[in-house]
Amino acid sequence: MLKPLIAGNWKMNTTVHQGVDLVIKLRELLKGADPDEVEVVLAPPFTSIHHISHIIADSHIRLCGQNLHWEKGGAYTGEVSADMLISVGCRYVIIGHSERRELFKETDEMVNKKVLAALKAGLRPIICVGETLDERELGKTISKVQLQIKKALSGLAGGALKDIAIAYEPIWAIGTGRTATPQMAEEVHNALRELLFELYDTDSVKSTRVIYGGSVKPDNIDSLMAQPNIDGALVGGASLKAEDFARIVKFRHL
Ligand code: 13P
Repeated sequence: MLKPLIAGNWKMNTTVHQGVDLVIKLRELLKGADPDEVEVVLAPPFTSIHHISHIIADSHIRLCGQNLHWEKGGAYTGEVSADMLISVGCRYVIIGHSERRELFKETDEMVNKKVLAALKAGLRPIICVGETLDERELGKTISKVQLQIKKALSGLAGGALKDIAIAYEPIWAIGTGRTATPQMAEEVHNALRELLFELYDTDSVKSTRVIYGGSVKPDNIDSLMAQPNIDGALVGGASLKAEDFARIVKFRHL
């Protein structure tokens, strides 16, 4: 059984002070949570990560970048490298979020370069995939997400899979309050795992977590986590409320 991964993606929200307040509350609320039961990861804006790393130093909460550049350094104004993220305490990085793909024109090739660079530097990628509403209605969901993953993992050996999480985030469910039903999510997670079984050895695939994102809330986390192929959640809006995120971390086994 894989240890579930619950990650909060704060997106472009919170000043340093707001972020610090939020983490102080969260640290208190999560004091009783068993680190062997669930892995808790936060992806604050870059500007807050260093401050927050001090606050969570004695907790089991881990830090995550929301993005990175694949180069190690140089003339790339506005970008952040894997080594920079590691230097402020990150162990994870979100790669290929649909907001980056849609608003900032990130391609599958760029996602692949980022995945390879992150792993090489020792960061664990959380690779996001997902379909638009049009693609879902046209029956293209599975082929879209499978192709995104095939391209994201291009050139990667099976041994690296244990350090990777895949986040299935249907674009129509992000920030809309419309969640995929647990059955809809399970179908896609299962298809992603089947693809991994085609590409890699069984042991490697069994070590990869496939998590769900898209309007995850305290009232739907339990039924999502009851699905056999849902290994955690990538939470946007609800991760900005300490009580809600803490309840999501403490999901109940149905
Ligand atoms: P919401 O939980 O706000 O729908 O966002 C999901 C998401 O994009 C997490 O990366």
